[in-house]
Amino acid sequence: MNTLLIKNGTVVTVGATQVADVFIAGETVQAVGRDLSYTADRTIDATGCYVVPGGIDPHVHMQIPFMGTHSSDNFETGTLAALHGGTTTIIDFAIQTQGDTLTNTWNQWYEWANGHAVGDYSFHLAVTDFNDKTCAELPDLIEKRGVTSFKTFMAYKGALMIDDRQMVALMHELKRLGGLLTVHAEHGDMIDSLIAQHRAAGHTAPRYHAASHPELAETEASGRILDLGLACDQAVYIVHMTCEGALNRLRNALYRNQVGLAETCIQYLLLDDSLYEREGFDGAKWVMSPPLRQPKDQAALWAGINQGLIRVVATDHCPFTLAQKRMGESDFSKIPNGHPAVEHRMELLFSEGVQQNRISLSKFVEVTSTNAAKIFGLYPRKGTIAVGSDADITIIDPTQQHTLSAATHHMNVDYSAYEGWKVNGKCRTTILRGQVAVEDGQAHVGKGHGQYLKRARFTSPNQL
Ligand code: URP
Ligand code: ZN
Ligand code: ZN
Repeated sequence: MNTLLIKNGTVVTVGATQVADVFIAGETVQAVGRDLSYTADRTIDATGCYVVPGGIDPHVHMQIPFMGTHSSDNFETGTLAALHGGTTTIIDFAIQTQGDTLTNTWNQWYEWANGHAVGDYSFHLAVTDFNDKTCAELPDLIEKRGVTSFKTFMAYKGALMIDDRQMVALMHELKRLGGLLTVHAEHGDMIDSLIAQHRAAGHTAPRYHAASHPELAETEASGRILDLGLACDQAVYIVHMTCEGALNRLRNALYRNQVGLAETCIQYLLLDDSLYEREGFDGAKWVMSPPLRQPKDQAALWAGINQGLIRVVATDHCPFTLAQKRMGESDFSKIPNGHPAVEHRMELLFSEGVQQNRISLSKFVEVTSTNAAKIFGLYPRKGTIAVGSDADITIIDPTQQHTLSAATHHMNVDYSAYEGWKVNGKCRTTILRGQVAVEDGQAHVGKGHGQYLKRARFTSPNQL
């Protein structure tokens, strides 16, 4: 059995920050403590570095068929890029094509990932057509395949959106079975009518994507889904929350003691809607739904993290090449929605959050790994550094500075949403189940190394 000893790093978990050693045998952590005297096949000196749980990004889209094309990372390139940036586990969304079964959907995503993914992976199941047939498939997905979280869209009418009647029916069923509901909360009809108005007025540029997805559309849908959650006594996890209005709806909902959880994404903390004003078609690089917001929203989101309202910082990684983005050159509504980020989440949040004193080290670990593991049924196998846990560990050197660029990133996309961004701190070593996966920019594992993760049910917020 391979053994590995990480010496003298500052080991950070949600409960403790301590200078300690970590001893790993095979795939799991065997001991954490001061001056461990194990002999190991390899010793890594982590003096001056932070030793944190491998990142978990619970919101990514690898090779998703979407808006007439596929996102440009597949499970191999996307998970390898994630490992370069310290993320050892992803949870992708297997999205039902309306009319198809949920089981076929899971099978399709599994076929794409199994034997291809380099990092560990799991799936949420996105239900785009809820009826008696799909309802009957839920127990098998939960029990046999370990899919314990489901996704619905309140936007993208005609392709992904379900109406409130289906939403309520699904919530009742998930309540009965113990599934967690995750939701894309934007008011689909409001958006579609704004898109139609802008197109009719001859507005074609990327900025009209943002204009068609106003804060109010997200605020309204966030409030509505939380109201439905209260009515059905069902826990609701709102994905990619971007704005002050939606956050305040969550804040108000929590006064009612219901279970409401929120995730934001790194881009909503760091980038703003001024990018849509860039010359020509450049703003298309950041066309995503919901769109980038204003600096006042960034401030609200940082506060929401520290107030414990926002539990997770994900990416919604959904990259499209510049050629794919150009599908919408003469019509903003045809620009494939999404941007590349899975590789940069940990380093950007460390640099802009921890190093800038906006969040603590413990909060960093919470929102990049531990909370996702707890919410999505992977804890304590994933999400911490503890005896018996998978040895998924990222060693961050806070003194290494580097600059993000498409010329050096590993994601399969020909632009960087963060081109030229200076980052303080580098994920020097990423360890996945006891194996050094990436070190100093070199990959040591390859295609098929990733394992599918069955997940337990989310039972209660007191797990968090
Ligand atoms: O723009 C985005 N977010 N693309 C991916 C699909 C989604 O809505 O999450
Ligand atoms: Zn979404
Ligand atoms: Zn998404």
